[in-house]
Amino acid sequence: MLERLRGPGLGGWSEDPLWGTFYDWSVEHPRAGGAVWKAGIGSDLRLLYAAAAEIGRQPAGSAVLDVPSGGGVALRGLRPGQGIRYVAADIAQSMLDRTMESARERGLADQVEPRLADVGELPFADGEFDLVVSFTGLHCFPDPQRAVLEMGRVTHAGGVLTGSALLNDTGLRTLPIRTVGRFAGLLGPSATRAQVRDWMAQAGFTDVTLRMSGAIGYFRGIKDASADLIDGG
Ligand SMILES: C[S@@+](CC[C@H](N)C(=O)[O-])C[C@H]1O[C@@H](n2cnc3c(N)ncnc32)[C@H](O)[C@@H]1O
Repeated sequence: MLERLRGPGLGGWSEDPLWGTFYDWSVEHPRAGGAVWKAGIGSDLRLLYAAAAEIGRQPAGSAVLDVPSGGGVALRGLRPGQGIRYVAADIAQSMLDRTMESARERGLADQVEPRLADVGELPFADGEFDLVVSFTGLHCFPDPQRAVLEMGRVTHAGGVLTGSALLNDTGLRTLPIRTVGRFAGLLGPSATRAQVRDWMAQAGFTDVTLRMSGAIGYFRGIKDASADLIDGG
């Protein structure tokens, strides 16, 4: 059924859908794209940039995972010469190419390592990253709970997971977008606010905050430092 309803150019993310180009344009244009965000989902795009700024506060030697990196909007937070390892992961090679193009334009390519990866099965070690960012991603994943648990697994004890998602319990305004997105194979089941909080707790995060801006929820939590002790016996 879903397969039959997919139109030309609309396939899944790994097929470089037209929507990917439009979405990417919207997040990279604060004025015009910001107006589209406000009108479409009632959300303030500047909050995405503000959340990405946490990347710029990481000390030299830190490791940051950006999943899904998409066109690389989170690179706005990274500073030239910051001296961190920045892994940009996405399931679509075309999106990783855009991330690297953006990294080169911003003079950041020496710090950015592109990795083709599925968020549900991240090819990284437990606790490999000090900061994991996942902007506008959870609602695109087929299994968002698994994604949160995986991102939690690769977050270092005391590290941070921060991200955003188009959530389900946000009224009828976004129902058409969410419905069409699911039919087109671009959106997954997403989550409610309560589910995001539950999954963050299951993944070992404390001090979880969830701030709404229109239909987009911005979540942030700190990986419980005692989680490693429990896992390690
Ligand atoms: C709406 S874009 C968001 C990208 C970026 N974080 C941003 O805020 O602009 C969603 C991205 O999720 C990626 N994606 C979809 N499913 C994925 C999966 N299972 N694992 C990793 N990335 C995935 C897509 O390729 C796409 O680049």
